[in-house]
Amino acid sequence: MYRMSEKPLIDATEIHERVATLAREIAAAYDYDILISALTGAYMFTADLTRELAKVQGINATQKRIAFIKASSYGESMESSGKLQVQGLERINLQGKKILMVDDIADTGSTLLGLCEMLREAGVQDVRTCVLLNKQERREVDITADFVGFEIANEFVVGYGLDYANNYRFLPDIWTLQETN
Ligand code: IMP
Ligand code: MG
Repeated sequence: MYRMSEKPLIDATEIHERVATLAREIAAAYDYDILISALTGAYMFTADLTRELAKVQGINATQKRIAFIKASSYGESMESSGKLQVQGLERINLQGKKILMVDDIADTGSTLLGLCEMLREAGVQDVRTCVLLNKQERREVDITADFVGFEIANEFVVGYGLDYANNYRFLPDIWTLQETN
């Protein structure tokens, strides 16, 4: 059994301040064509990030596109099954495009690396990656996200879109899950 930490690891105010700053960092560094968001975990982050990006991009924001894909490798456990399944990439016109790939968290890194490889195979001009959370200690493959919201320790986190067995996603703060026995 698991229970939530007594206090949030990162509260909603901290998240929103950091997402606003992250949007400024991205807008200053990378003029992407399409923001691709990995469902389901990144949905809340993506909604907040795109609103903040629009504030700093000004008129350019009207030209930006968004597309959603479904990436899964976890099933209902806390450990990645290692088999990355991606749905929806085939519906996006990727040829020659500059992509900003957004996910909730980089853990082993295999999801992000797999997605970047698929995007390059599909003929994109450039792909850069953005994650809200990075667990560097858990990295198993060679990938460094270009834009990172928060570095976190090797703990399982939920809330703000992130789940455990599809629960906890609606919470506005990010919490740690702890084993109770
Ligand atoms: P990776 O391929 O091992 O980097 O795992 C990335 C995916 O695993 C993320 O997109 C999340 O969906 C999920 N994940 C990894 N760590 C956590 C966590 O602490 N909480 C919730 N989901 C996680
Ligand atoms: Mg995910």
